[in-house]
Amino acid sequence: MIIDLLKKAKKVAVLTGAGISAESGVPTFRGEGGLWRNYNPQELATPEAFARDPGLVWEWYNWRREIIHPLEPNKGHKFIADLEKNTSDFTLITQNIDGLHQKAGSKNCVELHGNIWRVRCVREEKVFELSDVPLKDIPPVCECGSILRPDIVWFGESLDPEVMSIAYNAVKNCDFMMVVGTSAVVQPAASFPLIARQNGAYVVEINAEKTPISGMVDESLIGKAGEIFGKLKP
Ligand code: APR
Repeated sequence: MIIDLLKKAKKVAVLTGAGISAESGVPTFRGEGGLWRNYNPQELATPEAFARDPGLVWEWYNWRREIIHPLEPNKGHKFIADLEKNTSDFTLITQNIDGLHQKAGSKNCVELHGNIWRVRCVREEKVFELSDVPLKDIPPVCECGSILRPDIVWFGESLDPEVMSIAYNAVKNCDFMMVVGTSAVVQPAASFPLIARQNGAYVVEINAEKTPISGMVDESLIGKAGEIFGKLKP
């Protein structure tokens, strides 16, 4: 049924969250085992925390970069990458910063919250990739002498308007949307499935547990993404 709808769909949008990478070994935000030195991520992923102690925030990112670096995409990432190859108009919107979708072969991937392998100069706003693991000198410094920060959208910061506009257009115009591995509590992503549905899309959620949007989508499949995707073939 889902596969038939997917084959018929002309415009497909997929929204992913931390749950899609869980089976690759990336800790989720609101699950167990994701805490570093007992800090809540909301205490570290803020501009205030970075201004107060950039070294501490970078130590946390070094830890996360070390965890993510050796990890490989799983069946879920691969299903989504294959789906893109078979769909003429396809947009992947991810809240993840781990880069595993691209490692799986996804091309048209909108990263709402940035990417852990990119850094940004706090003075010039120049963005580039810095993928050494771990970074030896932290906080790292730009050629201009200013400090570098992770190119990630922190709590209290706005999403890039260009990124938002691409994501929003894909959501509004798709006729099939798949929502995978997100607790659907962080805006604006949490509203995307509802916007898609209001605009006529068929919306399917795949998540390990029920979420606030489970009752508002066309189908909610509860289980591990890898297992559910294993039963579907694009
Ligand atoms: N398959 C499917 N779903 C899973 C799996 C799995 N193998 N493992 C966990 N999940 C589900 C969890 O049940 C949970 O509902 O994935 C969801 C992950 O939720 P969060 O940890 O809240 O991650 P996410 O929704 O991506 O968080 C959104 O919050 O902290 C910010 O910026 C951060 O991008 C993040 C945003």
